[in-house]
Amino acid sequence: MILLETIDLSKQFGDLRACDDVNFTVNKGEFLSLVGSNGAGKTSLVNLISGHLKPNSGRILFEGQDVTFATVYERIKAGIARSFQIVNLFDGLSVFDNVALSIFSREGKIARIAALADHDQDVRSETFDVLGRFGLNGKSSVPAGGLAQGERKLLDVAVAYALRPKLLFLDEPTSGVSTREKTQIMDTVSSVVRAGAVTAVVIEHDMDVVFRYSDRIVMMHEGRFLADGTPEEIKANKDVANILLGAPLSA
Ligand SMILES: Nc1ncnc2c1ncn2[C@@H]1O[C@H](COP(=O)(O)OP(=O)(O)O)[C@@H](O)[C@H]1O
Ligand SMILES: [Mg+2]
Repeated sequence: MILLETIDLSKQFGDLRACDDVNFTVNKGEFLSLVGSNGAGKTSLVNLISGHLKPNSGRILFEGQDVTFATVYERIKAGIARSFQIVNLFDGLSVFDNVALSIFSREGKIARIAALADHDQDVRSETFDVLGRFGLNGKSSVPAGGLAQGERKLLDVAVAYALRPKLLFLDEPTSGVSTREKTQIMDTVSSVVRAGAVTAVVIEHDMDVVFRYSDRIVMMHEGRFLADGTPEEIKANKDVANILLGAPLSA
């Protein structure tokens, strides 16, 4: 079943086509990786889908509804959430408060935050539930700015997860951490996402990670989709291998 579909979606920055007639399909329940070299257009595509960028042309359908011109908030309400390549946390707030804020905003309670933050039992218990899923319960009162890099990345995913999305985009959730931490982050993220029946699209550079965790892999190159398949199919794809090696394409 198709959850999200883009139809001939394009984004132009001056002379540069960051996304060039992209037809992207995400099926319900899959864990999908979006790969490609720097500048391929991955973040732009996610920005278009989340509403942080407006397309020059094309359409975006989510659960069959046209959301091409919906606001970011309307898309979150519909069930689309994302994390950012540069983590997006309130460093002065505690780990608990970063997630609680996300739940408050989802429920439209943002104006009442100051008064309610400590007294809303539903938000409190849901926040601890989310933190528990990401292994952050023991850190709930630590300022987010005091977390190790790997924990920051997990908290950033937890903040997006707390929006209870149907479709979650993670833009490089393992960038800037060690190989060992990468595995920890991906083990946690993939099991939380699968347990919550959330569909996920992950932008990731480490192909070992990509091959290990993905149901399907899509490769972008210069704004276009170059390959789309299972890990086995992508491993056998010559164009993909050439790009990964930095060699010119065969065609
Ligand atoms: N806001 C912007 N203004 C101008 N050019 C941009 C902007 N955002 C991205 N680009 C350009 O679009 C191309 C695709 O960028 P991006 O989507 O960030 O790629 P990726 O995430 O795959 O590394 C790059 O050449 C980048 O420099
Ligand atoms: Mg990017």
